[in-house]
Amino acid sequence: MGSSFKYYLSFVIFLFVCLLGVKTQNVTLTIPLNKTTSISNKEVFGQFVNLNASSTLQVGFVNGTKLISFIIFQVHSHHYNVTVYNNTLTRSSSVYGTNIGLYSSVKPPLDKFYVSNQNTVDIKLYIVVHGYGSTDPVPGGCNMEFQPSISPYLHTSYTNDYVLVEAASARDSSDIACTSINDVNVVFYLMYLEERNFDTDVYFEGIKSMLTLDNITDNAEIVPQTTWRMRRMLGAYPGTGAIYVAVAYSAVNSSAYSVYVPTYSYACSPLDDSCELLDDVLSQLLCASLLFFGMFLCYFGHRFFKTEMFLIGLISGVIITYILISLIAELERPALLGAAILSGACFGFIWLLFWWFYGIPVFAVLLSTLNLGFLFAALMYFGLPGGFETLQVDFNFWTLFILIMSITSLILLSTTFLSNILCCAILGAYATVYPIDYYVGSNLKYIIINTVRRAVVPKFNSAVLSPPFQWADALITLLWLSLATTGFLFQHYQNRRKPPFPPPPRSIRPSLPDTTYGTAGRRYRDTLQRPPTSARRQTEYTPLLS
Ligand SMILES: *[C@@H]1O[C@H](CO)[C@@H](O)[C@H](O)[C@H]1NC(C)=O
Ligand SMILES: *[C@@H]1O[C@H](CO)[C@@H](O)[C@H](O)[C@H]1NC(C)=O
Ligand SMILES: *[C@@H]1O[C@H](CO)[C@@H](O)[C@H](O)[C@H]1NC(C)=O
Repeated sequence: MGSSFKYYLSFVIFLFVCLLGVKTQNVTLTIPLNKTTSISNKEVFGQFVNLNASSTLQVGFVNGTKLISFIIFQVHSHHYNVTVYNNTLTRSSSVYGTNIGLYSSVKPPLDKFYVSNQNTVDIKLYIVVHGYGSTDPVPGGCNMEFQPSISPYLHTSYTNDYVLVEAASARDSSDIACTSINDVNVVFYLMYLEERNFDTDVYFEGIKSMLTLDNITDNAEIVPQTTWRMRRMLGAYPGTGAIYVAVAYSAVNSSAYSVYVPTYSYACSPLDDSCELLDDVLSQLLCASLLFFGMFLCYFGHRFFKTEMFLIGLISGVIITYILISLIAELERPALLGAAILSGACFGFIWLLFWWFYGIPVFAVLLSTLNLGFLFAALMYFGLPGGFETLQVDFNFWTLFILIMSITSLILLSTTFLSNILCCAILGAYATVYPIDYYVGSNLKYIIINTVRRAVVPKFNSAVLSPPFQWADALITLLWLSLATTGFLFQHYQNRRKPPFPPPPRSIRPSLPDTTYGTAGRRYRDTLQRPPTSARRQTEYTPLLS
C-alpha cells in the first residue's frame, strides 16, 4: 500500500516536472545575404542554433544583392529528423529529414523558411545558406520523381551490406525545361568520420568540412560512377560514420558549380544500438574463439600438422558453405553460421583423413596456399579503387579472382615446407586480429566480408568499396604483420632439425613421401617411380639430423 502510494506520488511529480520542463520557444533568425562569396566558397551564412522540443525556427533574409540569384537553405541535425518548409506548410514545399535543404530564388519579397522540431528532445542544428550566381547550376533542379520539384539534398538508405546515396539531377542555368540534364556533371564525394565515434560535435565538424568546394576537394575522396548516373552504392562499414556530398559542375561553363546538401550515414542506427555488430551469442563465441585458433595456427601450425590440416579444412569449408547457403536460402546469421561450422567441421575432418591415409605434402599444403591466395585476392579487391567497368561483370571479376588465387597458390607450392609455415603464420595472424578488429571497431574484417558480399549480395558488383583506413586500422595491420613475421620465424626455428613434414599416421600409399626445401614435387614423382629402400631413405634423413 505504502509503496504503491510512493510510486503514485513520484509519477505525479514526474508529470509535473514534465509539464514545467516542456518549454516551447520559437526562435527567429534574420540572415543578411550581402556577404561576398568567392569562387571556391559560396557560403553566405553558417551558424549553430539550439531548437527546443516542439518549437519552430523562423528564418528571414535581408539585403539581397544582384550577385546572388538563388540560395540553397540547409539544415543539419544529428540523429533527429526536422521539417523545413517555406512560407506555408504544404506537402509540396516541405522536406523532412536530418540533412535537408530548400531552394529559393532571391526575388522580393524574399522567402521565409521555417524549421520545426517535432521531436521530444531539444536539438542542435547547423543552419547554412549558400548563395549562387545566375550561371551556376541548380542542385537537384531537375527532380522528376518526388516533391518538391527542386530538391538540392541527398537521399541515403542502407542495408547491412551497402549504403545507397541518391541525388536528383541538377539543372544548368541555360536549361529551363530540363531537356539537357547531361550538361551538368554531378560528382559524388565521401569522407569518413572517426570509426565508432557517434559524437555530435565530431559529426558537425564532419558536416562543416563538406560544405564548400574548397573543403570538399581537400577532405573528401571521389566516389566513382558505376551503374547509375545519379546514384552511388557504397560498401557499408557499420559504425564508421561517413559524410556524402555531391557537386554539380556545369559542362558548359567551367567556373560554374553548385554544392548539394551533404548528408551522413553510420550504416547502422546508434540511437537504437544497432551498431553492435555481433549481437548474437554464437557469433560472439565463435569470434572470440578465433583468437585462440589463430594464435595456435600462427605459432604452432606446422608442428601440429594434423590439427593444422583440420583447421585449414574447417576454414575453407566454413567460407564455401556460408557462401553457398546464402546464395540458396535466406537464413538468420546464427543459423547460417551454425550450418557453416557443422559443414566446415566435416570438411576439416575429411581433409584430415585425406592426409592421414595418403599423406602427400603437396596436396596437404595446396589447401593452405589456396586459402592464402583467397586472402590475397580478397585483399586486392578490398584495396582496388572502384569504377572499373570490366570488373563489374561477375564473370570477369571471378575469373580474375580465381586466377590471382591460383597463381599465388602455385608460386607458393614450389617450396612446400616454407610456404606451409608462411600460410600458417599469415592466416593464423589474420584470424587472431579478426576478433580484435571487431572489438576495436576497425575495418580489416571487411577484407573477407566484402568478398563474401560480392558473391552473395545481389547488385553488389556496382558497389564502390573505398574502405576507411584510419589509425585503428593501421594499428591492427601492424599487429597482423608483426604476428605473421614472428609466427613465421618462430615456426622456422621450431622445426629446424626435423624432417619438413611429419610422416602421415597411416599411409595406404606404397611409400612415404619425403620432401626437403623446395623439392616436394620432384621427390614425390621420384618416390612414385622408385619406391626407396629403407637404406636410401636413411641417407636422405642424415643431413637433416646433423
Ligand atoms: C550589407 O548591407 C547592409 C545594409 O545595407 C550594410 O550595413 C552592411 O555593411 C552590408 N554588409 C556587407 C558585408 O557588405
Ligand atoms: C527519420 O526519418 C526517417 C525516414 O523518414 C526514418 O527512417 C527515421 O527513423 C527517422 N529518425 C528518427 C530518429 O525518428
Ligand atoms: C516553396 O518551395 C517550393 C519548392 O521549392 C516552391 O515550388 C514554391 O514556389 C515555394 N513557395 C514560395 C511561395 O516561394
